[in-house]
Amino acid sequence: MKIVMIGAGYVGLVSGVCFSDFGHHVICVEKDQTKLVKLRAGEVPIFEPGLDVLLKRNINEGRLEFSDDLATSIVDADAVFIAVGTPARRGDGFADLTYVYETAKELGEKLTNDTVIITKSTVPVGTNREIKRIITACNPKAAFEIVSNPEFLREGSAIEDFMRPDRVIVGVGSAEAESVMRNIYRPLNIRETPIMVTDLETAETIKYAANAFLAMKITFINEIADLCEKTGGDVQQVAKGIGLDTRIGGKFLHAGPGYGGSCFPKDTLALVQTGQRYGAPQRIIETVVAVNDARKSAMTGKILAACGGSVKGKRIAVLGVTFKPNTDDMRDAPSLVIIPELIAAGASITACDPEGGDEARKLLDGVDWVDDAYSAADGADALVIITEWNAFRGLDLARIRQLLTTSVFIDLRNIYPPEEVSAAGLTLTNVGKGTIES
Ligand code: UDX
Repeated sequence: MKIVMIGAGYVGLVSGVCFSDFGHHVICVEKDQTKLVKLRAGEVPIFEPGLDVLLKRNINEGRLEFSDDLATSIVDADAVFIAVGTPARRGDGFADLTYVYETAKELGEKLTNDTVIITKSTVPVGTNREIKRIITACNPKAAFEIVSNPEFLREGSAIEDFMRPDRVIVGVGSAEAESVMRNIYRPLNIRETPIMVTDLETAETIKYAANAFLAMKITFINEIADLCEKTGGDVQQVAKGIGLDTRIGGKFLHAGPGYGGSCFPKDTLALVQTGQRYGAPQRIIETVVAVNDARKSAMTGKILAACGGSVKGKRIAVLGVTFKPNTDDMRDAPSLVIIPELIAAGASITACDPEGGDEARKLLDGVDWVDDAYSAADGADALVIITEWNAFRGLDLARIRQLLTTSVFIDLRNIYPPEEVSAAGLTLTNVGKGTIES
């Protein structure tokens, strides 16, 4: 099939490359000339493990190309995906649909043949019908079907999530559109991946409900962690104990500094706004948003407490700044709250991150950057792990102790067992491991 993917960002590029690896012929339409030059040269402009290999292979085998010309690209396309960004609108948190609607208008103006237009971008309930209205208003003769096909890709494991999804959600309005979608995802049949066909609004709601539920699950265990710190108990054991109940499941129960990224923060806000707009307030998710936002500053308080109540004049080594490992993405990363607050409290910061440094340097002022954990620890008065990169999972803790001027070791991702940390002469502060003096 001929597929056009409009937008070559985190979602569009992964989806376009993977569809071409399915055997389809894919044209990714990207207006950013710098990105376009890189992509045509087989270079991946984002960090996503394994994407570079797939990109080069499918370009070389002639199934994948890049263009900035939407009109030419969509000629005779069997399917046109809209995968442009829908960032949270500044101020009120509504999903900013400017790029989606601009794309719909351009499609309406340039469409010349029957096709299926598929929204891959995360859009509030009702948006697909609005896209259909815009296209029809631009071109009453346009023969097209509208489909909602939300993505469930996690950054850092996006290819795995695309190639082995738990399910594919397809919101359609006709049997013809359903047939096209089943043909697009046919390669997943060998794994018997469920393709769930719904109406448009249901598909749009599934996406938001899924992300909001996952954000809620994380926030729930983060608050249980706070309780464990007061009452005793080990939040990792609690997470394991409840996760063994198959109705709960063990995933997304890792307590930490709060969730970040390009999706949970914006999708929870958008869902809250949608609930308010339609008179069905999402009070639980409103609380999730507030609790998660407050948690990042609470981590600063934890660090201050571990440093005796003040970091004034102290140097703090920070390991990991991206919102999660295996990505270069800094969007809504807890470090973007924690580091400026530490600096405001008088600390100097030495930071390292395997991939995030370039992005982080644009967002964080006054940070000294080094290449590895030991360089960061050298001469620092405390060490904090914010992101659980593999590079930080096997540190020589005795060497870290020697390099630090004190024994303060703060592990916000509960990577290290307390006994290993104390054996190295370090004083551990972590998340959700209360110790009640016997
Ligand atoms: C998320 C959803 O998982 C994915 O399905 C959706 O399509 C896009 O948004 P992503 O944001 O890339 O994916 O990363 P994810 O692995 O979900 O982590 C999101 C945030 O939650 C990160 O900040 C991570 O550190 C945090 N997290 C995740 C926890 O704090 N604890 C956990 O147990 C899991």
